[in-house]
This record gives sequence, C-alpha cells and structure tokens, in this order.
Amino acid sequence: VRPVVLKLGGSLLTYARREGVFSRRRARRLAEELAAFRGPLVVVHGTGSFGKPPARRFGYLTGRLRTERAPVVSKVEGALDRLRGLLLEELRRAGVRAVGVSPASLFECRAGSISRCETWPLVRLLQRGLTPVTSGGILPNAGAGFTVCSSDDMAAALAMALPVRRLIFATDARGALSRARSLPIGSTTHLAWLAPDLADVSGGMRGKLEAARAPVRLGIETLIVNGNRPYRVHDALAPVPSHATRLVSR
Ligand SMILES: Nc1ncnc2c1ncn2[C@@H]1O[C@H](COP(=O)(O)OP(=O)(O)OP(=O)(O)O)[C@@H](O)[C@H]1O
Ligand SMILES: [Mg+2]
Repeated sequence: VRPVVLKLGGSLLTYARREGVFSRRRARRLAEELAAFRGPLVVVHGTGSFGKPPARRFGYLTGRLRTERAPVVSKVEGALDRLRGLLLEELRRAGVRAVGVSPASLFECRAGSISRCETWPLVRLLQRGLTPVTSGGILPNAGAGFTVCSSDDMAAALAMALPVRRLIFATDARGALSRARSLPIGSTTHLAWLAPDLADVSGGMRGKLEAARAPVRLGIETLIVNGNRPYRVHDALAPVPSHATRLVSR
C-alpha cells in the first residue's frame, strides 16, 4: 500500500505570536485524528514560531547561511528538535507508532532547493508499521554553507519520490481557500491573488501552493485542509475526503 504524506503546518502546532511555544491542545487533537488513520503515513511538520523568529533575529530570511554560521544552525536545530520531540510525545500518547527522522539524513539542497531526497529510511520504517516524522530545518547546502529547507518542499519532494497515495497540507487556512472545493495552482496567474510572505523564508501560503505545483502536475492527489477545524485532517485521510480543497493544475 502506498503511504500518505501529511504536512502538519507549524501554524497549527505553535502559537504564531509566542516564540517557541507549543500548542499542546491542538497537537493533541491532531494526533488523535492521525491515530484513527490505519494506513501507512509519513509526517512532515513545519516550524511555526520555533523556526520563523530566529530567521529574522539571526538575519537569514534569504534562506542561506555561510559555513561559519554553523553555531546558529546548531542552535536553531535545537529548537526544532524540541518541537519534534513535543509532537512525537503527543503522537505516541494518541497511539501512533511514531519515530523521529532528522531531515539532514534525508535531504540535500543545492542553490536553495532540494537536490537529493533519500526515501529508503522511510520505506524501511513504513514496512515495519512505524510512522516516520521529520520536519523543515536548516540543511547542508551542496558545496558549502546551509539552506533553510521548507517543510512544504520536503513533503512535495517525498510525495514525488516515494510514491504516495495522497499528499495533504494541513495548515491554518482560512476564508475562501478553506471553502473552495478545488483550487487551480498551475500558473503564476493562478497565484497572483496571493502575496508572498516576506517575513517567512518558506513564503507562507504562497510558498506552500508553489511547492504543491510539481506533485499536482504529476497527477498526485494533493489536498489542502484547515487543520484548525476538528476532523478536517481526519476527513482528508479518509478514502474519499469530503471537506478538503483539491489542488489542481487548471
Ligand atoms: N486564504 C488565505 N490566503 C492567504 N493567506 C492565508 C490564507 N489563509 C491563511 N493564510 C495565511 O497563511 C498562513 C499559513 O502559512 P504558514 O506558512 O504560516 O503556515 P504553515 O505552513 O502551516 O506553517 P509552517 O510554515 O510553520 O509549517 C496562515 O497563518 C495565514 O496567516
Ligand atoms: Mg509555511
């Protein structure tokens, strides 16, 4: 059976305005929705307020860091390890057989985008009934230095490489987006209504929809759901989802 790749937005797991504060209540509810799903699942989580404020504070909103900035990388990765630990705790508590996987062991970047994506560690875990959990972070850039790697890009890369049954982006999506049944993202004009989020290395909602383009073009079923609403993630994992927004090319 093909796995589902689920990107759990950092916007759902953390409090946007409180740096490094985990939203335990929401994470617990989402963990229970995941636990109800019986199929193979790969979770990629975002960084929310554990990852975005440091990018501003340490001045790497461009997403690139020179090799000398390894101490900053270690510090920020420490915060992300903590977030992953907190999420893993909630997943296990809900009954998900989750195992954390460091993103640097799966991906390499080149010129700011993912150039290598290793799937075998995930496949081995899935074959043994485990749920791998990885996240966005700061990765070694091929050649030198480091690149901020968006968890949206990671989820898209894994969905294309595994292959998967479905790719789901769960996020704090409000308004028109969460009510649409399908959303065309095939061309730049489709995304013209969305301003890029300049305070976010991975570009917020616009970056997410751009990340989704390649898998959508390959015909991978790709959904976006408002994870703030109870049961929406549960529904998106169902054989036939009835509430999610389907991302389409045209
Ligand atoms: N319909 C919409 N159009 C444009 N922006 C939206 C819309 N709905 C929500 N947003 C904004 O986009 C944000 C979601 O993008 P963001 O990157 O912050 O979340 P995420 O990807 O879930 O989190 P992370 O990047 O930490 O994983 C929301 O918090 C909101 O500010
Ligand atoms: Mg994001």
